[in-house]
Amino acid sequence: LRLADVAESFGKGRELDFRPRGAREVRKAGHAFIEMKRRIERAMEQRTTMLNGVSHDLRTIITRFRLSLALLEQTPEIDDLRRDVDEMSRMLEAYLAFARGDSGEPASAIDLRALLEDVRTDVERLGGHVSEVTLEGQATVTVRPDAFRRCLFNLASNAARYGDTIAIAARKEARWLAVSIDDDGPGIPPELREEVFKPFVRLDDARQDAGGSGLGLA
Ligand SMILES: Nc1ncnc2c1ncn2[C@@H]1O[C@H](COP(=O)(O)OP(=O)(O)OP(=O)(O)O)[C@@H](O)[C@H]1O
Ligand SMILES: [Mg+2]
Repeated sequence: LRLADVAESFGKGRELDFRPRGAREVRKAGHAFIEMKRRIERAMEQRTTMLNGVSHDLRTIITRFRLSLALLEQTPEIDDLRRDVDEMSRMLEAYLAFARGDSGEPASAIDLRALLEDVRTDVERLGGHVSEVTLEGQATVTVRPDAFRRCLFNLASNAARYGDTIAIAARKEARWLAVSIDDDGPGIPPELREEVFKPFVRLDDARQDAGGSGLGLA
């Protein structure tokens, strides 16, 4: 039971102290778990190192591009180039944030009410109207703060992009937290609701100006 608890906590980003004990088989499983945990942590560390290297190198080049463009004369062609460089930079940041995922971010207690108010501000900044923000139950929740914030902000920005009026509601029960961000836009057809969670899937390629990389829900 102790091993199961530790495995579940590790999956949720919480560190628990663990020393295998009990029957032989259980102890063996315990040691195998510790070994597996070490390998996963090593793989995550390597990924972080690589991402940091890539993002540093590409950002440096993009900055150099920007500086060079700023020194050139203002012509429509140069403006196009400038827009492309901005777009490239935005895409790079989106890919990096996705690849980084929530790797290594420890869970901690946050004030859900404050976060929901931030989401409201964000929706309104994007031109959406928030009809209500409701919170039932405990306002303190334990989550990976940055990853959770990113998740809610994506839902909020999607809602503001496709709908006009948005209702934000959260309900904290003993074992789970439910958050709904409900907009009055066209919605996602039921048969595509699995599909939209895949990376780079966007339903409206035709309406290019809608923006976005298709990574938010993934
Ligand atoms: N509230 C919504 N109403 C209608 N369609 C939606 C809504 N939210 C998401 N979608 C559809 O699902 C697709 C995937 O959403 P997702 O957030 O993953 O990507 P994105 O918003 O296009 O880009 P990104 O979030 O990376 O900037 C969207 O492109 C859109 O077609
Ligand atoms: Mg999105």
